[in-house]
Amino acid sequence: MAIISDDNDFGKQNLKTKNPIIKTESIEYDKTFENSIRPKSFDDYIGQSALKETLKISIEAAKMREKPLDHLLFYGPPGLGKTTLAGVIAEQMGTDIKITSAPALERPRDIIGILMSLKGGEILFIDEIHRLNKVAEEILYPAMEDFFLDMTTGKSQTVKTLRVPLPKFTLIGATTKAGELSGPLRDRFGIIYRLQFYSIEELAAVIKRTASILDIKITEEGAVAIAKRSRGTPRIANRLVKRVSDFALIKFDGVITDEVANYSLDILNIDEFGLDTTDRALLNLIIEKYDGGPVGIETIAAALSEDVRTLEDVCEPYLLQAGLLQRTPRGRKVSPEGYRHLGKKINNLQQSLFD
Ligand code: ADE
Repeated sequence: MAIISDDNDFGKQNLKTKNPIIKTESIEYDKTFENSIRPKSFDDYIGQSALKETLKISIEAAKMREKPLDHLLFYGPPGLGKTTLAGVIAEQMGTDIKITSAPALERPRDIIGILMSLKGGEILFIDEIHRLNKVAEEILYPAMEDFFLDMTTGKSQTVKTLRVPLPKFTLIGATTKAGELSGPLRDRFGIIYRLQFYSIEELAAVIKRTASILDIKITEEGAVAIAKRSRGTPRIANRLVKRVSDFALIKFDGVITDEVANYSLDILNIDEFGLDTTDRALLNLIIEKYDGGPVGIETIAAALSEDVRTLEDVCEPYLLQAGLLQRTPRGRKVSPEGYRHLGKKINNLQQSLFD
């Protein structure tokens, strides 16, 4: 299976920019690292077991019918393995995958070009698909539904519509915000699935697998200690195992034990819930400046000099899932657990709002 990527990085770094293609050494390095440890088969892919079982059946059925797989939409917070899963599906279908992201499909010719370059049975992966513009979406509808491109030629009175056939392909869309997808686009996906946060056991298994690929020595307790601070997210777990392995090598005897992991993660300011400085700053700000909330996300972003999208896509999903933050129609509120986690006392007025 060949992975043909247009070289976008889909991480946090790009969220603030209009142009999604920024190449810096660290982004390139990160991508190479992620690619080197990506599982290639369902057996290697840890977690998301219900989804894996459904997918295996759909893949077998598609192969038996000698038809491409239905279009798939994966949604959920970043770092849970949407791109990885698309790669595994391509491998399992024995086909190639072309990877792009919606912000890279700005002009009609971007999406037309990529659709016309597909071969029969190939997979097209579009990340951040909720950011697709209207024109690109409308080009995609007949392509997804009937494998046609509707092209117009000529001007006003002489305008002609041409139906150009496309090879049968499978679109895999990924998004952190399923709610922002238009109804007609969502309706064209045969399979829609939300990826779940990983359990500690699953993350420990991911960490041990990565450690063995990278030749990092780690104990079971060391893997669990890192897993506990990985916010349910394999991408974070894999980054942390590398950071901790540096400490193990320089400050200890090279082996990641629970003691080494906890020592290193404390120094890296990752607390026992996996919250980093930004997460804690967000909770602290709401408590200290807005009496625990509710307060709007734009106000929080401005006060923290952070991007709204980064807060919404990267910080909030885990804070909400961990029950430290609450979303209300009037803005974000820190929960009693959030107060407790930061060692802050909740005042009577705030407490009465929760009772
Ligand atoms: N690395 C990142 N995600 C993974 C997963 N789900 N299984 C195994 N290794 C991974």
